[in-house]
Amino acid sequence: MRFLLCLLFSLLAFVFSQTLSNVRLADHTSYIVELVQKTVDRVQKNNWNGLKVHDVSIEIDEEVLNKTIQGTVFLSNGFIVSMQHLTLVSSTIQQAWLYTRATNTTTLELRSTMQMTNVAIGFDVDGTIDGEKYHNTATILYPSMQFRLVLVRNLFTDELSSRAEPILWRTTNQLQFLPSDTFSQVLVHLYDWNSTFPSLQTWASEVFAPIILDVAETEHPIPGFCYDCPA
Ligand SMILES: *[C@@H]1O[C@H](CO)[C@@H](O)[C@H](O)[C@H]1NC(C)=O
Ligand SMILES: *[C@@H]1O[C@H](CO)[C@@H](O)[C@H](O)[C@H]1NC(C)=O
Ligand SMILES: *[C@@H]1O[C@H](CO)[C@@H](O)[C@H](O)[C@H]1NC(C)=O
Repeated sequence: MRFLLCLLFSLLAFVFSQTLSNVRLADHTSYIVELVQKTVDRVQKNNWNGLKVHDVSIEIDEEVLNKTIQGTVFLSNGFIVSMQHLTLVSSTIQQAWLYTRATNTTTLELRSTMQMTNVAIGFDVDGTIDGEKYHNTATILYPSMQFRLVLVRNLFTDELSSRAEPILWRTTNQLQFLPSDTFSQVLVHLYDWNSTFPSLQTWASEVFAPIILDVAETEHPIPGFCYDCPA
């Protein structure tokens, strides 16, 4: 009997190291959904204030109605004005077991993609155009922002780590100024839709990734594994 148990254990160890696909988290979906929910709850509790928006500058050197307009304006004090939806893209929820030969480690990755819909970012607009001071406000509407979120567990050391990265889709003509004037109509065309990307990178690396890690370490531990469970 003892021998049989022993055999069973070495067999399990063998299975574990050779065919990782037989080892799974029993219910990774509800674990990941709750992990992201708890992460978002923490960000929301702070009224999204943790999501800082970087300043953006726009250089103007344009010909408008046979007249050259020159100047620089800065979009500053950016903040999230509104967001219509925040969801988890269900098809992206997955667990992956990865063996890295170089470091001889196996890691479990719990992946998902968070989707923010119709995110409006407000800015103050200040600068000098043709030698005159200019002040206005602007709102940029992003139809879709996504964040790939990954919680990683090293299966040899049990150490946790996390990663997050943004995906930003091109927006067209979604920049609105209040009030709208000749200059703002020029600025709409000069604004680089991707200039918000560095802000999203900061949200990913300085807000989402550390909070996910902390949630997993403090209040939402990864559940036990299931060996040889049905696929
Ligand atoms: C712009 O300049 C061109 C020639 O340089 C002239 O034909 C045209 O009428 C001008 N347009 C305006 C709006 O002033
Ligand atoms: C890989 O790591 C495992 C567990 O730490 C160890 O038993 C094994 O000998 C290592 N293999 C190599 C090739 O270093
Ligand atoms: C957006 O900007 C980032 C760097 O800020 C760059 O890595 C990325 O490729 C840009 N995206 C597009 C579609 O140009």
